[in-house]
Amino acid sequence: MRTYETLLYSLEDRIAIVTIHRPEKLNALNALVKEELSELFTSLLSDRGVDVVILTGAGEKSFVAGTDIAELSTLTRESGVEFAGKGQELFDRIENLGKPVIAAVNGYALGGGCELALACHIRIASDKARFGQPEVLLGIIPGYGGTQRLARLIGRGRAMELILSGAQMDAQEALRVGLVSRVVPAAELLGTVKQLARVIASNGQPAVRFALQAVNVTQEMVLSEGLQHEAFLFGECCATGDFKEGVRAFLEKRKPEFKGV
Ligand code: COA
Repeated sequence: MRTYETLLYSLEDRIAIVTIHRPEKLNALNALVKEELSELFTSLLSDRGVDVVILTGAGEKSFVAGTDIAELSTLTRESGVEFAGKGQELFDRIENLGKPVIAAVNGYALGGGCELALACHIRIASDKARFGQPEVLLGIIPGYGGTQRLARLIGRGRAMELILSGAQMDAQEALRVGLVSRVVPAAELLGTVKQLARVIASNGQPAVRFALQAVNVTQEMVLSEGLQHEAFLFGECCATGDFKEGVRAFLEKRKPEFKGV
């Protein structure tokens, strides 16, 4: 793995930890951060040594405080479409990585930072985290999927309130509305997320990936199509060695030894 200017990368027990590292700007997403994230997630897609990815922000204050506002001022109608489209492409790549991505939200997750967390599969927040889509305060709207993923996750009414007001939500409120699945004290955040990642990595990986796909892909389907796709993926699981091992281990009252195939 090459080194990056704005990202830190480490690998522990098949768990990759990606830290957006631009603390002096609260990890705001400038062009270089987005370019490097795109490159890193492209390489993670085919990295057979990685089962789970953790995404977090450097420092104690911020996960990601949004797109870099300094890079917005020259946008026009045409370049605005392109700008949003490129960001959406990056976040789609994260959502469709094919292996679980957990956001460890350690502070501000505003604008593009909230949208980045939304593109991850699981969000765990520190009690210091704050969420919001403050784009209207700048005269724009969320352009990296916020109007879509936020409404799907927490419901249209709550998403409308956040997006139209530009107000921030604290971690407890984010937990209450289902924007995050857990809130932990700041000092325990990374440890908690790593523990969850280890649990996921210890499971049969084909099943983890098929489950991820079943939940993700079927969001865009009507129920009957989604159920059909679920049955198809269930069949794919049944063709794996890990399925045979998992069932055999249960019947033999021992721990399974999954091989990832
Ligand atoms: N883009 C570019 N720079 C940003 C940024 C962003 N989204 N968010 C923070 N920064 C920079 C600040 O300009 C400041 O830089 P400077 O020290 O060179 O002046 C530095 O990060 C620290 O931020 P600061 O505003 O001084 O910290 P704070 O604790 O007073 O406030 C926030 C924190 C998050 C409330 C505030 O920075 C903020 O509102 N940021 C913008 C959030 C936003 O609108 N995001 C959506 C963008 S579409």
